[in-house]
Amino acid sequence: MSSTKTTIGNYEFENCLMNAAGVYCYDRNELEQIINSDAGTFVTKSATLNPREGNPLPRYYDTKLGCINSMGLPNLGIDYYLDYLLELQKTHPDRTFFLSLTGLSSEEIHTLLNKVYESDFNGLTELNLSCPNVPGKPQMAYDLEATEKLLNKVFEYFKKPLGVKLPPYFDIVHFDEAAKVFNKFPLTFVNCINSIGNGLVINDEHVVIKPKQGFGGIGGEYIKPTALANVHAFYQRLNPSIQIIGTGGILTGRDVFEHILCGAGIVQIGTTLQKEGPEVFSRITRELEEIMDEKGYKTLDDFKGKLKYL
Ligand code: SIN
Repeated sequence: MSSTKTTIGNYEFENCLMNAAGVYCYDRNELEQIINSDAGTFVTKSATLNPREGNPLPRYYDTKLGCINSMGLPNLGIDYYLDYLLELQKTHPDRTFFLSLTGLSSEEIHTLLNKVYESDFNGLTELNLSCPNVPGKPQMAYDLEATEKLLNKVFEYFKKPLGVKLPPYFDIVHFDEAAKVFNKFPLTFVNCINSIGNGLVINDEHVVIKPKQGFGGIGGEYIKPTALANVHAFYQRLNPSIQIIGTGGILTGRDVFEHILCGAGIVQIGTTLQKEGPEVFSRITRELEEIMDEKGYKTLDDFKGKLKYL
């Protein structure tokens, strides 16, 4: 019988599937549905210091091959998510969860991380450096100098397990340069990838979402090749102590298998979870197990990172 158990940092997870930040993670009600599903863990919506309403509606639109969104970081504020996670540490002491956070300035990021560091939170923290949807705010991880400066300061005081959520990179030189920066820090993981930023979907003669004149992050089937390339490029370049979370284009167990083959240690589902609901974790786990059984793989380590070249 195959096992889909995995580890990130020093934490073990019963299953290698979870939600992607932004989907089924806005409040307790949504997060509880993930806890009660076959997902191995959850990540919260990226929290800012204060609650945010986000961008005007409509700001999410499903397409045949995925979705476009420009949510603009609607969230209930860091205290809401931290309080909930601290409660879960008491009610589910055997499970580990991810807290996602992001700030609209370096100062806000430091304030958030200080708060997390000083709290009793003992899970994994994900710093989102890649939201494409806040008007006037670029995706920080495209500015590697600013990213390095930020992380230098963060690791002066933040001693809990920390990872970063990255945007897709599209050039081999950029993979090299980004990996060189991330290898300087004791990161527990990098998460590849956030949505492909600033796409445009048109229906008849109109854009389909209101914010930013229709520009928004693209997710779903469209983005799997880019996600796989980013997962594998970082798997090839990062210190083995930095694990990769694979996100992007997961519709089936086969997609999860490919992410793990490229080097992912855990895989996040966004668009398909949004479209199908939390039962998706049972279906996709079953499909992954069937592939592993057919190939005689008992654990994820039997094929993780073992992509074959021609
Ligand atoms: C959003 O809230 O706009 C999406 C967050 C993200 O893509 O990081």
